[in-house]
Amino acid sequence: MCGIVGYAGTAAGPQAQDVVLEGLRRLEYRGYDSAGVALQTDGRLVTAKKAGKLARLVEFLDEDPLPPSVTGIGHTRWATHGAPTDANAHPHLGGDGTVAVIHNGIIENFASLKAGLLTDGVGFASQTDTEVAAHLLAKAYAETGDLPAAMCAVARSLEGAFTLLAVHADVPGTVVAARRNSPLVVGLGDGANYLGSDVAAFIGHTREAIEMGQDQVVTITASSVSITDFDGVPADGVHFHVDWDAAAAEKGGFPSFMAKEINEQPQAVADTLRGRVDPSGRLVLDELHIDETVLRSIDKIVIIACGTASYAGQVARYAIEHWCRIPCEVELAHEFRYRDPVVNEKTLVVAVSQSGETMDTIMAVRHAREQGARVVAVCNTYGSTIPRESDAALYTHAGPEIAVASTKAFLAQITACYLLGLYLAQLRGNKFADEISEIMGQLQAMPEKIQKVLDGIGQVRAMARWMADTRSVLFLGRHVGYPVAMEGALKLKEIAYIHAEGFAAGELKHGPIALIEPGQPVFVIVPSPRNRDVLHSKVVSNIQEINARGARTIVIAEEGDEDVVPYADDVIWIPPTPTLLAPLVTVVPLQVFACELATAKGLDVDQPRNLAKSVTVE
Ligand code: M6R
Repeated sequence: MCGIVGYAGTAAGPQAQDVVLEGLRRLEYRGYDSAGVALQTDGRLVTAKKAGKLARLVEFLDEDPLPPSVTGIGHTRWATHGAPTDANAHPHLGGDGTVAVIHNGIIENFASLKAGLLTDGVGFASQTDTEVAAHLLAKAYAETGDLPAAMCAVARSLEGAFTLLAVHADVPGTVVAARRNSPLVVGLGDGANYLGSDVAAFIGHTREAIEMGQDQVVTITASSVSITDFDGVPADGVHFHVDWDAAAAEKGGFPSFMAKEINEQPQAVADTLRGRVDPSGRLVLDELHIDETVLRSIDKIVIIACGTASYAGQVARYAIEHWCRIPCEVELAHEFRYRDPVVNEKTLVVAVSQSGETMDTIMAVRHAREQGARVVAVCNTYGSTIPRESDAALYTHAGPEIAVASTKAFLAQITACYLLGLYLAQLRGNKFADEISEIMGQLQAMPEKIQKVLDGIGQVRAMARWMADTRSVLFLGRHVGYPVAMEGALKLKEIAYIHAEGFAAGELKHGPIALIEPGQPVFVIVPSPRNRDVLHSKVVSNIQEINARGARTIVIAEEGDEDVVPYADDVIWIPPTPTLLAPLVTVVPLQVFACELATAKGLDVDQPRNLAKSVTVE
């Protein structure tokens, strides 16, 4: 949940304070309750930390800069233990200020460790679990005189999830770090090296990186990177090249990252499809390293995810069952993990996650694998924990998603899950080659259709502005429109702080219709009328029912669908799209609506209250 940065450079390069603050700016989406830095200078450590967003710390440092330094660490916090105050902000000091530590994760045995330290007469300055690690590291260094060895000893004594970064006053030019169950990547620079929760921390300096393994310690200086396990035995990380650059992590002229990422959706879908079909139209998923005989034998698919990723999974279920004729369940990862689910070696578990670091999903992946299931990760972050711990990974290529509200990742997740479903249908012979090729053609046409919706979005912007005082909004959909309705409601809750609920339209008469009173805004996602199937007529009936009770109906319907016009206060037209692919366009107006409404209310669209981009605690 927190963002961490480490830097070891030389006097020929930039100042540590600048590098660390730049990294924190790019990582602030991970948490913004407080921020702090610790720098090494002239045989001592200097620190600055402030509750609130990074801007408060920057303002403070502008007035009172820290002394020159080329080695430092920085932290942006999402509070778990202890309120978001100056005292609880990281870094935390140990050994009378000789050691500074920052931490992402939760140290589960901190209470017993703290009790031991208190007995030894150690004083505590904060309510955090992290401070325990700072005092332990100071003690271990005093005993060993070896900072990496001291970090190994501390890491072995901790339980839970942690990435720890530390600098010591007596070990110049060195940052040491340890990771277990929390992310950490190393950036390989020219005359400098970096550490970060993710590559955004150092993307302005280098695109060459090392993915750290589980239970490893890394020590960086300006000219070296050395990795060991927790026992000090040399270990390797996995080198990778980051395929996006610093510009991708900037707003690029948009008022918010969310607005930018909504506009990047045609590209996100196109990039996720790219390179996955051979010239004969056959789907090729080279990265799916699971034996074909195993994939042929699976008798159940379980999609596990949280939040928006789970709604992507719910959309995908309709297509996967339809194309592959394999039963497919979708479950919130935190519920799956604790209900003794029936999974075995014939179950394919699909773990969907933008960040790859959502702890609930990680725990569910581990549980599924313990039961013998094969796990495929659908993930947007290369080298993150979920793909690393899965049997195979199918990456979405949406590029970095910075806004806390997920948008382009949602479309890319649906796209990748569809590729997986079609691949299974191809492999198992549920679909003929020409059928697969036809659906692929339809998918490849989607970026253009999404762009068309974005080009005509002015009406939604205006609507959001005049609805800024609305207290409650309902969303209705059927079939694939149902998870889209829930996603529309989630967007509005999380960034505009408006009560919103998404319902299955058929459920309306079983209770929710009691909420309808004159003027109640209700968005309705209408299926394509082209087949004149029962799905379309049922939703039109639902619109009539709420219209008759005075609801303000905002209908998302396919161009030319005249049936909805008499009952709609507003119609948002979308281009003709096959039913299963429609979520890729119908969700777009809902995302824009939430973004514009939050903006109209003067809220921080990218950093909504109480939230963080990756939820790395259970
Ligand atoms: O990184 P993940 O996709 O695993 O994150 C899952 C959810 O935490 C995430 O989708 C969350 O619901 C978003 N803030 C929704 O916009």
